[in-house]
Amino acid sequence: MVARIVGTGSAVPENIVTNDDLSRIVDTNDEWISTRTGIRERRIAKEENTTILACRAAKKALENAEMDAADVELILVATCTPDSFFPNTACRVQKEIGAWNAVGFDLSAACSGFVFALSTVQAYIKSGVYKNALIIGAETLSKLLNWEDRGTCVLFGDGAGAVVVKAHETGFMDMVQWSDGRGDSVLTCGARQMKNVLVPGAQEADYVAMEGQPVFKFAVKKVPECITQVLEKTGTEKEEIRYYVLHQANSRIIQSVAKRLKEAEEKFPMNLERHGNTSAASIPILLDEMNREGKLQKGDKIILSGFGAGLTWGAALLEW
Ligand code: ACO
Repeated sequence: MVARIVGTGSAVPENIVTNDDLSRIVDTNDEWISTRTGIRERRIAKEENTTILACRAAKKALENAEMDAADVELILVATCTPDSFFPNTACRVQKEIGAWNAVGFDLSAACSGFVFALSTVQAYIKSGVYKNALIIGAETLSKLLNWEDRGTCVLFGDGAGAVVVKAHETGFMDMVQWSDGRGDSVLTCGARQMKNVLVPGAQEADYVAMEGQPVFKFAVKKVPECITQVLEKTGTEKEEIRYYVLHQANSRIIQSVAKRLKEAEEKFPMNLERHGNTSAASIPILLDEMNREGKLQKGDKIILSGFGAGLTWGAALLEW
């Protein structure tokens, strides 16, 4: 048995922040942001937090799957922006949606989080431990941004996406996933520093810090590489792939991946123009939009690929 996606949902904050809005906060402009990243606007939370967005996306995915929350066996939340160190986000979601029979935990792999979570769920389903799962990618990166750093604050947005997965004969085909901690310094956000009764000291808040060009080079090299690996592993030809659903960081990264794979850009759907980079949420939000627009037909082969801090990256091949 393999994991099969049987329902999708997504939720974003009400509040829209355009590039022009940002130009009133930092020294930037619509032309710079849109030509270098493809982003035109993003949702930035005011009332919402990671749990609220995760719950909204989860409820929609369950509705789409026609499944009761009480039947969910596992809740796995990919996030690097939880609302608390503990309890984890999955337990908070469990409480809100009434998934009383589920076990829940979070997974941290930055922008690769959703793809890594899917692979974890596949392992549980393949081994027969669970027969279904709710996988959520949920982020409120806006709370970790330095709103005086124009190099990072223009890139990210808040949101959540969710999928319901069930054990089935077809669905998940294979995946590759990788980490390289040697690249840890190019994209960071520190948590609390070591400070206790033995180690006193002032606590300074840390924010997202990024070296844009090394991250760009990493993505355009490793994403085509891992996609090719998963194609070879499964003996699948590129022509058989209907869509490549990539982490929505930057349109230039996606265009460059398409070019390196010698594939048409039309096979790489994008929504980053409206959402910015929502980290672990970007792939399930895009999947939900495509699902609701009727773009995904039964039997379509699609590749999901996430990449981000760690460094972490991976690609999964699925039959819809
Ligand atoms: N508005 C205007 N000017 C800006 C802005 C801004 N928002 N940000 C930076 N600049 C300026 C810089 O200060 C610099 O000015 P200078 O030449 O006077 O020093 C100039 O623009 C060029 O800056 P670079 O950082 O060299 O710009 P670059 O062409 O590398 O583009 C970008 C930056 C868009 C971040 C690019 O490196 C990139 O796409 N990197 C990939 C990173 C990414 O997508 N990260 C997302 C998170 S990671 C993930 O999801 C995997």
